[in-house]
Amino acid sequence: MAFNRQDGYYRQAKREGKRSRATYKIEELDSRFKVFKKGQKILELGAAPGGWMEYIAKRVGTSGVVLGLDLQSIADLPAPPCKTLVADILDPETGARIDALIAPPLDGAVSDLAPNLTGIKATDQANSIAILEQALILVKERLADGGFFICKVFQGNELKSFQLQLKKCFSKVTLAKPKASRKTSTEIYLVATGYDGNISSQ
Ligand SMILES: C[S@@+](CC[C@H](N)C(=O)[O-])C[C@H]1O[C@@H](n2cnc3c(N)ncnc32)[C@H](O)[C@@H]1O
Repeated sequence: MAFNRQDGYYRQAKREGKRSRATYKIEELDSRFKVFKKGQKILELGAAPGGWMEYIAKRVGTSGVVLGLDLQSIADLPAPPCKTLVADILDPETGARIDALIAPPLDGAVSDLAPNLTGIKATDQANSIAILEQALILVKERLADGGFFICKVFQGNELKSFQLQLKKCFSKVTLAKPKASRKTSTEIYLVATGYDGNISSQ
């Protein structure tokens, strides 16, 4: 997925030696919501080829940890703070494998997960919802009180109900479309801050 279309962000990523144009999305979200800090423990779901990880690694520094999980391997990231895990988030063993590499509670989690598309709309939408729901389960089990979760969602049926699910356990949930996200793409990001597993009245 890395450098697949030659727009301004693609050229900028090439020029600056970034792994993917996706880097600019997390950079922009961070400059708006100020989520990353030195020493944090961060989990990234759907992290290959590692563009976001490179950015987060700089922000959390060597006293922090950023674990990137993906179906594909991710090479050559600075360690510390980076660790990687080749895994499927839908695999029941994955939670234990995450914990072995980054002990909870976590300060934050990010998900840029995108299902492999089949071209069959109903199947793609069902897959997309399945990985999102599982991402939220994994994150809720590991996030510290006050922690944050940033995740990519595709606009459509899933968005409203997923947003409502987040509002049940985060004090603030904001929709954001970074400039680096293509206008033609239905992707949008939900930025949820102030994790509190006890909020449930909304
Ligand atoms: C848009 S890319 C992530 C880009 C990344 N944030 C970056 O900056 O380089 C989405 C990733 O989600 C991964 N993915 C999709 N389904 C997955 C699953 N079930 N388990 C783990 N990773 C998955 C894909 O392999 C793909 O690498």
